[in-house]
Amino acid sequence: MDGNGRWAQRQGVKRIFGHQNAIEAVRDATEGAAELGVKHLTLYAFSTENWDRPKYEVDGLMTLLVNTIKDELHTLQKNKIKLLAIGDISGLPVNAQKKLKEASDLTNENDGMELILALNYSGKWDIVNAVNKLIEQGKSIVESTDIDHNLSTANIPDPDLLIRTSGEMRISNFLLWQLAYTELHFTDVLWPDFRKKDLYEAIVSYQRRERRFGKTSDQVKA
Ligand code: IPE
Ligand code: MG
Repeated sequence: MDGNGRWAQRQGVKRIFGHQNAIEAVRDATEGAAELGVKHLTLYAFSTENWDRPKYEVDGLMTLLVNTIKDELHTLQKNKIKLLAIGDISGLPVNAQKKLKEASDLTNENDGMELILALNYSGKWDIVNAVNKLIEQGKSIVESTDIDHNLSTANIPDPDLLIRTSGEMRISNFLLWQLAYTELHFTDVLWPDFRKKDLYEAIVSYQRRERRFGKTSDQVKA
C-alpha cells in the first residue's frame, strides 16, 4: 500500500494525514474483495525496513494501527472477516500486539474472507525464520514444501495477484518466496485514492492473463 506520503504532499499536508486517509482505501478495498468472494487479502502495512522512518511517523503509524483495529472490529464481524497477522509481531509495541490478538481471537470463528495484515514483515525475515525453525526441528536437508510449511503463511495459499500502487515497480521485500508465480499489477493510483474500481481494474487485468506455471500455452489450454 504505497503512496500515502506523496498523497499528503500533493494536498500540502503532513505525511501522517496521508496514512490517516489510507484507512478509507483499506476499508473500500477490503469490502470490495470480500464482496467479490476473494478468500485471502494480504495488506503490506508495515515492513521491517519501515522502522527506519522518523520516530514520529512510526509512532503515528502504530497509533493508527491500534485505533483502526478498534474502530473496524464491528465491520469485520458484520462481514464475517477473519483477521490474521504475519510478520515479527513480537517486535510491535505491546498495545498493538494486544489489540491484534484480541481482534484475531474475536474474529477467529468467522468463515468469510481472511484479512491478513503484514506487520513488521519482510520476505527475507520470513525465509530466515522458516530456515531457523527447520534447524530447530533437526533438519539437515530441506525440501521446498518444508519451507512452505514453516513460513508465516503456512496456512495461507500463495497469492494469485499482487497489486502495487503509486507507480513503483518493485517487490520491496514482500512475500518473496510466495510470489514465485504471482501475477503482478502496477497502478499509478496513490494508496489513499485506491477504491473498489481500482481493485476491479486489477482483477480484470488478472483475468486476461494466461497462467502457465512454466508450461506451454497449448498445455494450459488442453
Ligand atoms: C505507504 O505509503 C505506507 C506505509 C509504508 C506504512 P508511504 O508512506 O510509503 O508513501 P510515499 O511512498 O512516501 O508516497
Ligand atoms: Mg512509499
